Amino acid sequence: MEMTKYLNTQLAGVKASDILAFANFASGIPNIVNFTVGEPDFNTPEHVQQAAIRSIQENHSHYAPSNGTQELRQNVSNYLADKYDQHYTPEEVIVTEGATEAIYTAIVSVLNPGDKVIIPTPTFPLYIADVTVAGGQPILVDTSATDFKLTPELLAQTIDREGSSVKMVVLNYPGNPTGVTYSQAELDALGDVLRDKPIFALCDEIYSELNYDHPHASLTKSLREQTILISGVSKSHAMTGWRIGLLCAPQNVVNELSKIHQFTITSTATVAQDAAAEALGNGQDDALPMKAEYQKRRDYILDTLNELGFQTAKPSGAFYIYTKIAPDLEQDDVKFAYDLAKNGHVAAVPGSYFGPGGDHYLRLSYATSMAEIKRGMTQLQQYVADQRVSQTV
Ligand SMILES: Cc1ncc(COP(=O)(O)O)c(C=O)c1O
Repeated sequence: MEMTKYLNTQLAGVKASDILAFANFASGIPNIVNFTVGEPDFNTPEHVQQAAIRSIQENHSHYAPSNGTQELRQNVSNYLADKYDQHYTPEEVIVTEGATEAIYTAIVSVLNPGDKVIIPTPTFPLYIADVTVAGGQPILVDTSATDFKLTPELLAQTIDREGSSVKMVVLNYPGNPTGVTYSQAELDALGDVLRDKPIFALCDEIYSELNYDHPHASLTKSLREQTILISGVSKSHAMTGWRIGLLCAPQNVVNELSKIHQFTITSTATVAQDAAAEALGNGQDDALPMKAEYQKRRDYILDTLNELGFQTAKPSGAFYIYTKIAPDLEQDDVKFAYDLAKNGHVAAVPGSYFGPGGDHYLRLSYATSMAEIKRGMTQLQQYVADQRVSQTV
């Protein structure tokens, strides 16, 4: 019997990750320079490692409280207030299995079947998958004509068009895949559109420590009551493998959301929570040296891409560059990326994998060493030069 046809029908609507398939293909090519990676190349800071070792030795091997240890939630509360002027009590924080679970918990908690979620694109594909699994409808809004930002006009038009079944809008700043972020004034203006409408804003601020040009801005400041804040230590403290994320929202909302969290994962690993408590309690500035290094890498790649005639969305945060293939080269980004990997030995993710507005773009992650970046840029220059010569003969 073909049992898969008896599975949740929403699953059929979830696409396997093209990004992963491309990364797997590229990793099989010897000597390739890999710009596909979505995690820091740094190690977790030493003092955080030591806190985890102590935690094991002190036998912190039992379940933590479902929403997280008191110490970690207190440190989250202090950290958000000190660093970003964001105010959540420890009881308004849920410690999740990475930001990934925080996003899942929020989406599954908010949506009834058929509800709509506005997702500005190009986007991190996870939101689309979670909305689909929850029986909701992703409403993809192409932001390529507005510098990869959702504008108040676009948001208002989309809400008017889609009607009362819109329950959520997703904002991710600094953003994956574009590296674009919002100013406080821009977020305030989006908040004005949403205020007093029965719509949640899911604000994914996982890259908040990696803002290069301006201090981190947040919708939590203008629309706290309707906002669900997503964050974590994966990117700020190079802790992707520890799986500690954060979900913050007003108390009444957290009380409800914690049911999904509790019945999905019970609680995250106690040792990892102790490590995260150290990261946020005593490592508030751990990201600064990483950020300085990322910035150098970003500038180096940007200079090379500009020289090659690739136009780039201004990447003022995260560790991604989203760049438009120069107009005289192959314009199909999937073809371009596969050919560049095979023949130029450089792996950059096709931009169209991130949704409408991404055609003709590539995403390059600079979470890789400067030596690799230099090698990769030299190989890209050579590949582009070869393409240009072959077009003229
Ligand atoms: C925008 C965004 N949100 C969430 C995540 C997932 O974070 P975590 O590893 O903490 O689950 C990522 C990871 O790449 C991301 O880019």
